[in-house]
Amino acid sequence: MALIDGFGRKIKYLRLSVTDHCDFRCVYCMDEDPKFLPRDQVLSLEELHKVAQAFTELGVEKIRLTGGEPLVKSDLPYLVTQIATLPGLKDLCLTTNGSRLKKFAQPLQQAGLKRLNISLDTLDPERFKNVTRNGKLERVLDGIDAAIAAGFERIKLNAVAMKGNNDDEVLDLVEFARDKGVDISFIEEMPLGILSEDRRSHSLLTSGEVREMIETRYLLMPTTENTGGPARYFRMADSDIRIGFISPHSHNFCDECNRVRVTTTGELLLCLGNENSIDLKAILRQSPDDIEPLKQAILEAMGNKPEMHHFSTDGETQILRFMSHTGG
Ligand code: GTP
Ligand code: 5AD
Ligand code: SF4
Repeated sequence: MALIDGFGRKIKYLRLSVTDHCDFRCVYCMDEDPKFLPRDQVLSLEELHKVAQAFTELGVEKIRLTGGEPLVKSDLPYLVTQIATLPGLKDLCLTTNGSRLKKFAQPLQQAGLKRLNISLDTLDPERFKNVTRNGKLERVLDGIDAAIAAGFERIKLNAVAMKGNNDDEVLDLVEFARDKGVDISFIEEMPLGILSEDRRSHSLLTSGEVREMIETRYLLMPTTENTGGPARYFRMADSDIRIGFISPHSHNFCDECNRVRVTTTGELLLCLGNENSIDLKAILRQSPDDIEPLKQAILEAMGNKPEMHHFSTDGETQILRFMSHTGG
């Protein structure tokens, strides 16, 4: 059985959010004082496993675990072990803020995780503190080293590009990735959640502008390589690393969309830029011993996947859900 939406797009990639909690409070992701969800509203480990099973039985080949910060759940390596052995799954990856990787990198690698994406917007400790609202850069840098030492197939850094904040660090971030031998993607900020006046009014730093900054020092060669995500990758002449650009505003990638999301409360979101959702938690809890109703609901939902997102570039919010709830 395969998941195909109304526009003929095959859905092979599930982004599964395992928690809305996080030890950071990134300014583009959540409120300063977020209200976290009560325990009974979020999916248990067993339910998360069941969701993953249903999707793989429906032809999904890639699962990325997201959050919040997935590693605030100390039993995450156990979930990874369970999901990694699902028949049909080719790629299991995790997006993390890196703060707990010193402890978790090795157990995760041993549990069967293949690839890691680690968020890193700045190399300046004070700036890092401001963006994450009190996070410690040193912990993340230690986490990156631990991940490299653990021997994952691929590690990618994610930097949200922010005008007047980290635009003067673009080249430093590229150099850092190059020294460490890891990929790096620059992401155009998406207006999700109820943003402060300050964030709504600041102007977008586009992938094109970031690329121009990098090209003042390096020749970037386009590649057709693809990780199944929205990034477009480039290579440098004298390094193995890839530089990616995720450009929801300046290069709409919706026509190639191959993914859906499940939030930590078990809502199936068909698009990041759309409020429509299907309540999978209710189905899971109604028939806990039968996976078929869950599969049926997922299959039927595909007809509702919208053609594209409609994020505006003027910071106007249409989506009231914060990224931390949506699941990266
Ligand atoms: P790989 O390609 O597997 O490395 O992963 P990825 O880049 O898709 O995943 P990651 O979790 O690192 O996400 C990077 C950024 O891409 C985040 O800001 C995501 O929210 C964004 N992103 C991923 N999928 C979509 C999508 O379908 N639509 C939009 N607008 N953004 C997305
Ligand atoms: N716009 C773009 N990227 C975002 N992320 C979180 N919130 C936003 C946003 N509003 C990024 C994080 C992380 C990835 C999962 O999504 O930095 O790297
Ligand atoms: Fe936490 Fe990631 Fe959101 Fe930052 S972007 S607050 S690290 S979930």
